[in-house]
Amino acid sequence: MSMYNEKVIQAFMSPKNVGAMENPDGVGEVGNPRCGDVMKIYLRVRDDRIEDIRFETFGCAAAIATSSTATEMVKGRTIEEALKLTNRDVAEALGGLPPEKIHCSLLAEEGIRAAIEDYRRRRQGLPPLPPRHDAVCHHEIPETGEETRE
Ligand code: FES
Repeated sequence: MSMYNEKVIQAFMSPKNVGAMENPDGVGEVGNPRCGDVMKIYLRVRDDRIEDIRFETFGCAAAIATSSTATEMVKGRTIEEALKLTNRDVAEALGGLPPEKIHCSLLAEEGIRAAIEDYRRRRQGLPPLPPRHDAVCHHEIPETGEETRE
């Protein structure tokens, strides 16, 4: 755990918005192809605003800390505002992540995007969005070092 700063450790030890949601308006499940870790995001949307958001993450400390922080950052925001959140924003809010753990923060960004897409599909009467286990970054992510699963 020593590679993480205090903020990250705190978010990992006491994550917010954890758990499943009954009758969500949108669900997004994404997987990180680099490590096989998986995250599920549940949304409750009212008047185009994220009224509530929950997550379940099978992942490392960085994935859990970024999931918690990302859900806090979009709660109460409009859908359009939530779509602007990037994994870099989340990593910055946490005071930074070790370079080899930046890819872990992708799950939160991609999970929120997938849940919003699912929400929009449901409103159009389309079938639910299938799980995506090939989350790819929309941004350039500088990474160095070996991957770790701490
Ligand atoms: Fe898989 Fe961090 S999300 S190692």
